[in-house]
Amino acid sequence: MKQVFVANPKGGCGKTTLATQLASYWAGQGMSVALMDHDRQQSSLDWLRSRPKDCAGIVPIAAFKGESADDQYEAVIHDMPAGCSVDDLDQWCGPGSQLVIPIMPSPTDIKAGVRFLMALNRHQWRQGNELDIALVANRVRTNTNYFKVLVAFLEQVNMPLITSIRDTQNYIRAMDNGVSIFDLPKSRVAADLKQWQPLLDWLEQSPAVS
Ligand SMILES: Nc1ncnc2c1ncn2[C@@H]1O[C@H](COP(=O)(O)OP(=O)(O)OP(=O)(O)O)[C@@H](O)[C@H]1O
Ligand SMILES: [Mg+2]
Repeated sequence: MKQVFVANPKGGCGKTTLATQLASYWAGQGMSVALMDHDRQQSSLDWLRSRPKDCAGIVPIAAFKGESADDQYEAVIHDMPAGCSVDDLDQWCGPGSQLVIPIMPSPTDIKAGVRFLMALNRHQWRQGNELDIALVANRVRTNTNYFKVLVAFLEQVNMPLITSIRDTQNYIRAMDNGVSIFDLPKSRVAADLKQWQPLLDWLEQSPAVS
């Protein structure tokens, strides 16, 4: 079973967007997928409620109410809330869990992201719970200064970005309609699909969970 956590204590950086895209991608590949919403705002569950019946099914799990997923799923995606601490993550993740961290290229988001990375680094993980981490820049406008600052900083600390996701209405519309870019005609989202590929490859390649 794949266990993927999408987390960053900073609000609004794209956790729900990335979590719903991933759930939809794997469901579209024929996998049985559960989407666990850890956030009382229920944005992931709202997205699932508006999902068209003819799209690949995803099982909603209200983790914020204490619901949990059994081991029948091939992939479980966790949409973590803003303010989620490293201790909160440690309670949920097990050996082989993968962590995707969306970071927006703005000064406050970069500072908050760095603080989170430092806390992850300092944390005394329960034995075997080390996480595989992918950093993803989100809502990127490529030629902005802050994107360059983010890339340069992460390279300096040897944690390069896995990919960058551009700022586009495609995600906002998809969110509103219970779909993802993977459910849309390829010709409309070709640039976006290309940006997702490195993250999908990373998620496939990093250690599988038994
Ligand atoms: N790449 C993108 N391009 C355009 N809009 C985006 C993109 N990613 C996210 N958004 C929009 O930004 C807003 C915040 O995104 P999202 O809800 O995914 O963040 P979040 O980290 O889950 O927020 P919260 O901390 O409140 O849970 C939403 O309106 C979403 O549609
Ligand atoms: Mg959210």
